[in-house]
Amino acid sequence: MALVALLVLAASLAWPASSQPLPVLVPVTKDPATSLYTLPFHSGANLVVDIAGPLVWSTCQPGHLPAKFPCTFPTCRLANAYPVPGCHEPGCEQDRRKDGTCTAYTNNPVTGVCASGSLDRTRFVANTTNGSNPVSQVSVRAVAACAPETLLASLPRGSTGVAGLAGSGLALPALVASAQKVANKFLLCLPRLGEGNGVAIFGGGPLQLTAQPGVDYTQELVYTPLVAKQGNPAHYVSVESIAVEGARVPVPARALATGGVVLSTKVHFTLLRRDVYRPFVDAFAKALVQQGAQGGPVARAVNPVAPFELCYDTRSLANTRTGYWVPRISLALEGGVNYSMNGLLSMVNVQGGAACLAFTEMKGVKAGDGSAPAVIIGGFQMENVVLEFDMEKKRLGFFRLPFFTRCGHFNFTRTG
Ligand SMILES: *[C@@H]1O[C@H](CO)[C@@H](O)[C@H](O)[C@H]1NC(C)=O
Ligand SMILES: *[C@@H]1O[C@H](CO)[C@@H](O)[C@H](O)[C@H]1NC(C)=O
Ligand SMILES: *[C@@H]1O[C@H](CO)[C@@H](O)[C@H](O)[C@H]1NC(C)=O
Ligand SMILES: *[C@@H]1O[C@H](CO)[C@@H](O)[C@H](O)[C@H]1NC(C)=O
Repeated sequence: MALVALLVLAASLAWPASSQPLPVLVPVTKDPATSLYTLPFHSGANLVVDIAGPLVWSTCQPGHLPAKFPCTFPTCRLANAYPVPGCHEPGCEQDRRKDGTCTAYTNNPVTGVCASGSLDRTRFVANTTNGSNPVSQVSVRAVAACAPETLLASLPRGSTGVAGLAGSGLALPALVASAQKVANKFLLCLPRLGEGNGVAIFGGGPLQLTAQPGVDYTQELVYTPLVAKQGNPAHYVSVESIAVEGARVPVPARALATGGVVLSTKVHFTLLRRDVYRPFVDAFAKALVQQGAQGGPVARAVNPVAPFELCYDTRSLANTRTGYWVPRISLALEGGVNYSMNGLLSMVNVQGGAACLAFTEMKGVKAGDGSAPAVIIGGFQMENVVLEFDMEKKRLGFFRLPFFTRCGHFNFTRTG
């Protein structure tokens, strides 16, 4: 008896690491045609990353047999916990399938089209990671909704569905957390086009990149609370003010709080509601003129290239390691931290030798309309920024990578 106890004790001392499950890694690819990001889900299934999506969906094999989730199962309730845009009010009770199994609603984040389908068991096949390399392959139990092939319209060629990464119970981070016993959080490092694959790590850090071996970028993160919004599992943050080159942009009082500020990977360039957009663009144009007057390069405005408003001749801008030398934009977030954007994050090259301020005005929404967010932070402004979405601690961590490294610098080579 005592010997058994001793052996058990010895075993638990000998392999302390084995009780610590490793996070799960996937490469993240940017699609040049749509500027959407995809990740491999399992062999033959690439899914579009939707950080505001409530669940995972994909087209199911024709003739597949759906798993039987009765309406009353917790999994079915989780699938229907949030109203899906474009769909009628979800819920098994109102829309009972003939056999009494669960109906799930799926939404194409680009077209906004909705469809209903069954809920199915599936597998997420990826690698575990120690934070700097893949370690070993894992097959993670998961649940996904089935959608018709027609729901794939406007998604990247070759993708077969959407991986929702919102704060909901059937989003991919929560599925990995419960199957792998890792924390319900994920790191996201979105790549810029042509800079290699970025990375998503479910369960958290560390995160190392090849340019600085041994440096864990999760140690550099600063945090702001994730704000819960009723009826919406997307990741919202609280922006207190916007500054251009240190000067506060005069947006109307409470404009930023009205509708809130959300992060989105389906939007490429950050969208601003009119009441925020107008003062912001004016402040940027003014600050750039001021920079020229104070001895900086004199930016020569050129005709706007849609959808942008402020465009400049690239020959009149100074190009630096951190992008064009333009006024720094910063979002002052709750918690006293700034999300600050240099030229690499604020300017985009367009055709004809011009570079434009990479922010656009929200269409079809009136100034101050709280049914729309004040700001939707898009993928372009998140590229080469390490983001940590932590649904347990309800906070967003972020760190803009230094100019000499990139999200595309993760080492996907496995050893041993
Ligand atoms: C796991 O990593 C290895 C080595 O990089 C790679 O060949 C393999 O495709 C990865 N597996 C998955 C499922 O991503
Ligand atoms: C991860 O594993 C690789 C391969 O064994 C090793 O070279 C690397 O140092 C490890 N990284 C960390 C952070 O432990
Ligand atoms: C990637 O990791 C492998 C295994 O640790 C190592 O041999 C290789 O040199 C690394 N590559 C880079 C570019 O650092
Ligand atoms: C954030 O930005 C504002 C405006 O540029 C600045 O006054 C403030 O000192 C910054 N705070 C931190 C913590 O960097």
